Amino acid sequence: MILSQIVATSENFAIGKDNKLLWHFPEDLKYFKTNTSGKIMIMGRKTYDSLGKPLPKRFHIVISRSEIKSEFPNVHFVKTIEEAIEFAKTKIGEYPEEVMVVGGAEIYRQTRLQCDLLYVTRIPGQFEGDTFYPANFTEGFSLKNRQMSEQHPGLVYEIWSKS
Ligand SMILES: NC(=O)c1ccc[n+]([C@@H]2O[C@H](COP(=O)([O-])OP(=O)(O)OC[C@H]3O[C@@H](n4cnc5c(N)ncnc54)[C@H](OP(=O)(O)O)[C@@H]3O)[C@@H](O)[C@H]2O)c1
Repeated sequence: MILSQIVATSENFAIGKDNKLLWHFPEDLKYFKTNTSGKIMIMGRKTYDSLGKPLPKRFHIVISRSEIKSEFPNVHFVKTIEEAIEFAKTKIGEYPEEVMVVGGAEIYRQTRLQCDLLYVTRIPGQFEGDTFYPANFTEGFSLKNRQMSEQHPGLVYEIWSKS
């Protein structure tokens, strides 16, 4: 299994506020869709709530300390991060080897060092958020790929791999 995080962060590492995203860049949403479609996604319960409904063509593993039963075939609740990773492993084959950790802040923080790859979209500017990506996220990782957006100056797609 390859464990990857995918995140969009502002220059001051804000990623969300009031359980919502802070910006709307369709190009970045497309990048997210391209990199998660067909795959297993691991997320925190708050991020799952923020989606409103499960995303099509993806399997959701949602982490919550509460006992929650899923009403959707492509959503499975677990109670720990370890359980999320173990459950993802049982689904490899049916789904690709790369499993995407899609947030939010709590889950990014607790899984970063177990990850092989970090897909980081740099959003230009400072934003007033209430949830943040670790400012030191590059520690232990090396830059593997960097691509500028042609549409939005300052928006950059980076991929970091474990050193
Ligand atoms: N910019 C981006 O790329 C991006 C991506 C994703 C999300 N976001 C933003 O991030 C924000 C949400 O992030 P967040 O940090 O507040 O919440 P989160 O990480 O999505 O979810 C937190 C919840 O996950 C569960 N949890 C966390 N650690 C756990 C553990 N060790 N064991 C069991 N359960 C655990 C708890 O659920 P229970 O309370 O149910 O127990 C906790 O309340 C939103 O604003 C969202 O829009 C941004």
